[in-house]
Amino acid sequence: MTTTRKVAVITGAAQGFGQSISIGLAKRGVDIVAVDLAASDETIRAVEDAGTRGVGLIADVSDPDTTGRLEALLRKDFGRCDILVNNAGIYPNVPITQVDYALWQRVQRINLDSQFLMVKAVLPLMMDRKWGRIVNITSNSVALVVPGLSHYIASKAGVIGFTRGLATDVAEYGITVNAVGPTASLTTGGKAHIKPEHIEELARTQVIKRPGTAEDIVGTVLFLAGDDSAFVTGQTIMADGGLVRL
Ligand SMILES: NC(=O)c1ccc[n+]([C@@H]2O[C@H](COP(=O)([O-])OP(=O)(O)OC[C@H]3O[C@@H](n4cnc5c(N)ncnc54)[C@H](O)[C@@H]3O)[C@@H](O)[C@H]2O)c1
Repeated sequence: MTTTRKVAVITGAAQGFGQSISIGLAKRGVDIVAVDLAASDETIRAVEDAGTRGVGLIADVSDPDTTGRLEALLRKDFGRCDILVNNAGIYPNVPITQVDYALWQRVQRINLDSQFLMVKAVLPLMMDRKWGRIVNITSNSVALVVPGLSHYIASKAGVIGFTRGLATDVAEYGITVNAVGPTASLTTGGKAHIKPEHIEELARTQVIKRPGTAEDIVGTVLFLAGDDSAFVTGQTIMADGGLVRL
């Protein structure tokens, strides 16, 4: 069975940016597979309210077994995959003197290795249809002075490198790959884990002088996930209030 609507996989879809992106895509008529460690019930309800189908997959995106589980779900429930938004990530602020190798590896696995693992799940389905959109979430911190984030910045700079390399390898299959970099934002995780004074300080430095919200990267992701961006690939767009210019 192959469904008629486009199908998007969104990782980290239970809350924050991932939830807002899922709802934004659903409003454009796209079915959603919400992958998260946590249940994505709230996201699925909002997707269905928007009029498309939502399916949750509770899974760790950094676990290599998730690749096969996700591909099997896509083949069985939809028969296709058109869009992947690699959004799941963690951003623990820890001074380098206290970052041990276990934390370093955990951050690389969840923020970077997971993007490779999810790409492996969707690539065969996108190649079948000769159309695909992959959007990887990075961070404007790769170009900023932010203490306590060297492990995180390394992972997010890796995302930009992966985006560039992958864009080259999959272009012949009609697949584009781009990255979007938010600023420190008032998402669910941002409110819980980023010091409010850091978010305020960045907001003052941005040219658009207000903190980012969970909605502020949705439009950029929708553009890169749609037909209108067909000639854009390998790029990183900072959707960050004009702070970092590439
Ligand atoms: N919020 C910010 O200030 C900010 C700024 C720049 C970049 N980002 C990036 O945006 C992305 C989303 O951030 P957010 O603020 O919405 O985060 P969030 O904490 O609000 O949501 C992240 C979601 O990812 C899920 N997740 C975490 N690890 C996972 C794993 N191993 N497997 C599956 N799911 C997992 C969590 O359960 C959660 O639902 C991240 O990649 C983050 O690095 C965020």
